Amino acid sequence: MVKFTYYGHAAFLLDDGKYKLLFDPFVTGNPAAKVKAADIKADFVFVTHAHADHLGDAPYIAKANNAEVIAIPEILNVFETDAPNVKFHGMNIGGSLMLPFGKVRMVFAEHSSGIAGGIACGFVVYVGGLVIYYAGDTALFSDMKLIGQKDNIDWAILPIGDNYTMGMEDAALAVQMLNVRHVIPVHYNTWPVIEQNVQDYKKLTESTSRARVHIVESGEDLQLELVDAEA
Ligand code: NI
Ligand code: MN
Repeated sequence: MVKFTYYGHAAFLLDDGKYKLLFDPFVTGNPAAKVKAADIKADFVFVTHAHADHLGDAPYIAKANNAEVIAIPEILNVFETDAPNVKFHGMNIGGSLMLPFGKVRMVFAEHSSGIAGGIACGFVVYVGGLVIYYAGDTALFSDMKLIGQKDNIDWAILPIGDNYTMGMEDAALAVQMLNVRHVIPVHYNTWPVIEQNVQDYKKLTESTSRARVHIVESGEDLQLELVDAEA
């Protein structure tokens, strides 16, 4: 079992009881955040791209926790300036890495990188007996079907806010392509430009796929389990 804790926007933690995996920890300046960066503990910090609403507090938290940062190599440049000597593991699209909790695969995202030379990515994480796909910031793209074929995804964490990423209709199509059973929407309602009625997304997705949509409020957590979508 894995505990998902949502910090608002696209920042969240996965905890398998032994290891804490932190993703895109934008907390300082995040209007939706209810925690302070200093209160977040992490063993691994995953950064999908270098836009400020994803890179966020990653250098500070990684340094404070002696955590290992997993990102595309170009992002290391930021850490060399902001958090010298932080543990950093560079990987690239299509590559896998074994970490103490399980396998991580870096996958394609259709989005800009926020840093010269880099590209944005998503992650497929094998942890606590589950396969979890975090899309990062992305448009809908047809290779999501390939990601779902290669990795039998149990839970997908998808942006739905529109403007910068997929909106609700595309994020509902993404669920069909990924053939995933459980979805947690993120990257919405942080600012007026990405305001969405998440209940509409839940209705749309659940009526057009076999998936169940789980709405998690900032500051709340959810136990991710392999429960049947029909249950
Ligand atoms: Ni972005
Ligand atoms: Mn973003």
